[in-house]
Amino acid sequence: MLPEIRTAIPGPRSRELAGKLAKFEAREVTWLPADFPVFWERAEGTNVWDVDANRFLDFTAAFAVSGLGHSSPVVRDPLLAQAGRLLHAMGDVHPAGVKAELCEALSGVTFERWKAGTGKTILCNSGSEAVEAALKTALLHSGKPGVIYFSGAYHGLGYGALEAGGLPYFREPFRSQLGGWGVPVPYPSCYRCPCGRKEGRRLEGEPFPNCSSACLEEIGAQVLAAIRQREIGCLIVEPIQGRGGEVVPPTDFLAMLRRICDAEKVVLVLDEIYTGFNRTGKLFACEHSAVIPDIICLGKALTGGFPLAACVGRADIMDAWPASQGEALHTSTMLGNPLGCAMALAAISQHAKAETQIQAREAGRRLRAALCGLRSRHIGDVRGAGTMLGVELVKPDGSPFGKLAAAIMVQGLQEGLILLGGGPGGNVLSFSPPFAISDEEVVFLAEKLQRFLETLPGKL
Ligand SMILES: Cc1ncc(COP(=O)(O)O)c(C=O)c1O
Repeated sequence: MLPEIRTAIPGPRSRELAGKLAKFEAREVTWLPADFPVFWERAEGTNVWDVDANRFLDFTAAFAVSGLGHSSPVVRDPLLAQAGRLLHAMGDVHPAGVKAELCEALSGVTFERWKAGTGKTILCNSGSEAVEAALKTALLHSGKPGVIYFSGAYHGLGYGALEAGGLPYFREPFRSQLGGWGVPVPYPSCYRCPCGRKEGRRLEGEPFPNCSSACLEEIGAQVLAAIRQREIGCLIVEPIQGRGGEVVPPTDFLAMLRRICDAEKVVLVLDEIYTGFNRTGKLFACEHSAVIPDIICLGKALTGGFPLAACVGRADIMDAWPASQGEALHTSTMLGNPLGCAMALAAISQHAKAETQIQAREAGRRLRAALCGLRSRHIGDVRGAGTMLGVELVKPDGSPFGKLAAAIMVQGLQEGLILLGGGPGGNVLSFSPPFAISDEEVVFLAEKLQRFLETLPGKL
């Protein structure tokens, strides 16, 4: 449904709650300027209602979690049924039955589907933890502490995930407590070429420029140099960078990394926490290039709305964990929470259905066409895959126009749109809507964005 705004935005109740957060929540968590945010009361499908009864249209699926739609009965009903039976079990001692079912399902939907043996899982409470479980596994398997990661990468904010993260904003304040085992290399981006080959707009439908092989060669050489110089046991990469600004690498990128990791016996970890579960138009983004990772990290849409994530690895890699002595070497109090497991089981089987995959692809096509139809000298690039799309906003000199992205988020909210900005310069409008987004809703978005692009830059 299209938005319906009844109060000033934020409304009176949202303002009151913002006051509470300003007083009782630590700073640097929730952004609380005068015109942001609204506090959510309920949500359904593509819509969110705030505490002042305003109805919004959500183009973020709340950080790419609700691909199946907000409060989808697909996951809500199993959650409610599970809640009636068992809320909590003893994750690594006397687990809930659904934990075993979920581990089997995760193997089925990944390594078994790829005909690459069995997958074994470590369940976690957040994406950041799933990444850290993967890093620990890689160390146990390889015996080498070094980890190659990419500029612009986002793997979460725990200290392990942060050391493998390539966004300085999050790293810098905590650099003195980071482990120093991470080795950064550039992520290939056509729009802002790390090799300085090309900077400029790539038009819709235009293939990557011929120079793409040069960029892969150069990055491949840097990866190899790092492996020669440091004790590297792991390489972690997002198939498409999410928080880094919806950056799509050339098609051969993952295959190149796979070849290097095979040759050098480095564990290849794919972080599909954002890209997984049909977000990019395939069940997993690695399937676009037929690359099978050693470990895949999953989260977000895995449950459609519960803090549960997973590190799933090929059995022979995961068996680097020693046989249990009775005291779990890796666990947490809430590990394998039955509510999250029940939701994940239902979400996985829904995502595996052809109808979900078709719906996701069609939504992506519609949204992409609408974004490519926007006309503004401030649009530097439109990119992404499936329903994971980004519009990079630039100043006339090509530098990031983060203020414009922020102004569009704020103005969008006034007019009923939930939007997000991302990228290192905060200048990429990032879209990851629920797959059920309709034609009418996409047209509504495009008309609003076109007007914002015409009217807002002059005011900044
Ligand atoms: C690719 C990727 N990895 C890891 C994470 C961290 O997940 P979480 O916020 O659940 O810790 C995110 C979150 O946005 C992500 O996009």
